[in-house]
Amino acid sequence: MPPALDGNDWWRRAVFYQLYPRSFQDSNNDGIGDLQGIISRLDYLAGHDDSLGVDAIWLSPTFPSPMKDFGYDVSDYRGVHPDFGDMAAMDRLVAECHRRGLRVLLDWVPNHTSDQHAWFLESRSSRSNPRRDWYIWRDARPDGTLPNNWRSVFGGPAWTFDEASGQYYLHSFLKEQPDLNWRNPEVVEAMHETLRFWLRKGIDGFRIDVMGMILKHPDLADNPLNPRWTPGSSEQKYLWTSNRNYPDVYEAVRGIRAVLDEFPGSMAVGEVFGTAEEIARYYGPPGTLDGLHLAFNFQFIHETGHVFTPWTAEAIQRIVANAEDATPGSALPCWAFGNHDRSRFISRNDHDGRGLERARAAAILLLTLRGVPFIYYGEEIGMADVDIPEARLQDPARFHTPGRDPERTPMQWDGSPTRGFSAAEPWLPYGPAAVNVAAQLHAPDSLLALYRRALRLRRQARALRQGSLRIIPSPGDVFAFERRMEGEPSATVLVNTAVHERNAALDSPGLVLLSSRTAREGERVGRDITLGPLEALVVGHG
Ligand code: NOJ
Repeated sequence: MPPALDGNDWWRRAVFYQLYPRSFQDSNNDGIGDLQGIISRLDYLAGHDDSLGVDAIWLSPTFPSPMKDFGYDVSDYRGVHPDFGDMAAMDRLVAECHRRGLRVLLDWVPNHTSDQHAWFLESRSSRSNPRRDWYIWRDARPDGTLPNNWRSVFGGPAWTFDEASGQYYLHSFLKEQPDLNWRNPEVVEAMHETLRFWLRKGIDGFRIDVMGMILKHPDLADNPLNPRWTPGSSEQKYLWTSNRNYPDVYEAVRGIRAVLDEFPGSMAVGEVFGTAEEIARYYGPPGTLDGLHLAFNFQFIHETGHVFTPWTAEAIQRIVANAEDATPGSALPCWAFGNHDRSRFISRNDHDGRGLERARAAAILLLTLRGVPFIYYGEEIGMADVDIPEARLQDPARFHTPGRDPERTPMQWDGSPTRGFSAAEPWLPYGPAAVNVAAQLHAPDSLLALYRRALRLRRQARALRQGSLRIIPSPGDVFAFERRMEGEPSATVLVNTAVHERNAALDSPGLVLLSSRTAREGERVGRDITLGPLEALVVGHG
C-alpha cells in the first residue's frame, strides 16, 4: 500500500482523480450519489494493494445549491447539500481519505453565487442595500439597450433585468448564477473567509471554477468582434478580452494564493482557458510563482473553442512543446483528458470504432508526461458518453450548448442492472453493462489494469514522476519523449497515433516497462523499434 505523499509540495508528485459526487455511489437509494457512498468506495481509489493508487480526489461542488447548474450555483459556501449528506459526513469523508493517504480538494466557485445566496437576495432587494455592490449591477444604456455586448458562456446575453430595482445584473453563466463583484474588498474578504473555513476543517485544497473571469474590465467595455467569426462558424462571435484573462485577474489570484499560504501544504488548481502563455500567467512570474499552484491545460480536449483536439502525434507534440516552453520556472503543467463539461475521451476519438485503443495510449501519455495528471472518474474503465433520452436530460446548459449529461452518468461498479451504483432509478441512465470495474479489476489486459500498472510505474520510476522531459524528434505519427533524472534510470515514451505500424528509433536499447498492448511488457528492445497500430509504450533504460 503506497504511503501518503509527504511534504508541503506533495501535489507536485500527485495523481488526482476528479469525481462527480452525484454519480459516484449512492448510499441511501435515492438515485443520487452522496458522500457516504464515496466513503464506501474509497478503497477502490487508495489504501490497498489492489486500489487504483491515486493520491488526491477533487469533488465537484458539494455545497448547498438550488442545483440549477448542479452545484456550480452555490447558495452557502460553508455547508453540504442535503442530497450529498451533512457536515458530519464531509468530516468523515476527509478523515477516511486521510487515513488512506488521499488528499481532498473541494470545488470553489468564486465567479458567481446562486441567485438564492443570501448575499444576492440582499443585493437584489434594493439599490441602497449595503450588499448592492457585491454583485455587478448596471443601468441600461441611454438608448435602452443592454449595458454591454457580453454573452453568457451558456449562450444569450450576460445581463438580466431586475424589474423591482430597475437595473440589470451580470451573469456570465445562467441567470440564476449572478457574478460577484471582485472589485469590492468586502466580497474579496468574504470569499477568502470561505476558503479559510474549509482549510481550518482540514481540506487540502481547491479546484477553482472559472478562475479567469473573476476580474473584468473596470468599465465593462464591450468585447471586440472576432475577426475569424463568420455566421455559422464554430468560432465565437466576440473575443472575450474584457471578461476573460483580463490582466487584473492575476492580482486577485495572488490574493487567493496568500490565503492558501496561511495553511502550509494546501494548494489550488485553477480552471483556466487560453493559449499556453495565458495559462502560464496563472502561476505567477517564474521568480516568485506566487499565483496558483497549478493551472489546468485542457488542450488535449480542445485547443480553441469547441473543436476537439484530434489524436495525432502532431497535435500532441505541439501541445506538449508549447506547455513545456511556457510553464514558468519550476512550475508544472497540469493535464486532463476529460471532465464533467466535455464529451468523454473515448467518444471523442471513436470515429472508426477504435476509441478504446486510443484511450489505452492516452492513459500512458497522461501518466508519463511531466506535470500533474487528473483522471476523470470512469475514464480508467473506458466509460463513454451515454445517449440520454430527451425526457431524462438534466443539464440546464443543454438549451444553448451540447448538453453535458452524457459524460456525467453513474460510475459502473459491476455488470448488474444497477451497476452497483443505486437500488433506485439513477438520476441519469447507465451506460452499457459490459463496461464496469468488477469485470476489469483482475483482468490483466483491461484498461483498469493498465491504469493501475501505469500508476505503479509512475510511483516507482522517479524519472517519470519528477524528471525532466525532452521531446525526441520522430517520424510522422509518432510522438516520443525522454524522461530523465540525475542518478535514476531514464525512460522513453513513444506514442504511435497511426492505425498502422510505425518504426521509431531509440537512443539506447531497453526494456518495455509498460505498453498499451500488454503482451509486450517485459520485451527487450534494441535501438530500432516497431510500434503497433495506436500503440503507446514506455521503455526503461539502465
Ligand atoms: C465551469 C464548470 O466546470 C461548469 O460545470 C460550470 O457550469 C461553469 N464553470 C459555471 O460554474
